[in-house]
Amino acid sequence: MNLTPQREPAIRVSLMPKDTNIHGTIFGGVILSYIDQAGAVAARPYAPIRMVTVAMKEVVFKEPVHVGDIISFYAHVTHVGKTSVTVHVDVVAERFRPYGLKVHVTAADVIYVAVDDNGRKIPVVADGSGG
Ligand SMILES: CC(C)(COP(=O)(O)OP(=O)(O)OC[C@H]1O[C@@H](n2cnc3c(N)ncnc32)[C@H](O)[C@@H]1OP(=O)(O)O)[C@@H](O)C(=O)NCCC(=O)NCCS
Repeated sequence: MNLTPQREPAIRVSLMPKDTNIHGTIFGGVILSYIDQAGAVAARPYAPIRMVTVAMKEVVFKEPVHVGDIISFYAHVTHVGKTSVTVHVDVVAERFRPYGLKVHVTAADVIYVAVDDNGRKIPVVADGSGG
């Protein structure tokens, strides 16, 4: 991917020692959580009421993330279905050391389903104009 995309990231965060695994690098589950949140930001305008995550497709970690790296989560909608939207999320780390070096950490396709207050699926807002 282009490591300096023109668009703004949905989320940008620097992670702390509390987010590390026993090897001292950032725990993959923390990154998965942010991927889900970043995708939900992009999916939100398609939700008449709210969205739930139904699937996250094949997340492969190509590079580790270290404490102090600045992590950007770029999210954009790639498919609008009847009750679901698919969001592609790219994860880019800017290294603390050497400062500013950018690496593509991982990417995921996350699928969200619009649901009503009882958790039943409902049609999405097709043009993403909000609920
Ligand atoms: C989301 C939920 C309401 C879907 O209900 P369902 O009756 O199983 O829905 P369907 O199988 O008809 O799928 C609904 C949509 O999701 C899509 N979808 C479902 N599973 C999918 C998968 N594994 N991959 C891609 N898309 C999927 C379908 O293609 C469909 O899209 P469309 O209407 O745009 O064509 C239900 O599965 C649910 O409540 N899941 C739990 C969600 C949740 O709590 N998430 C947080 C996890 S802690």
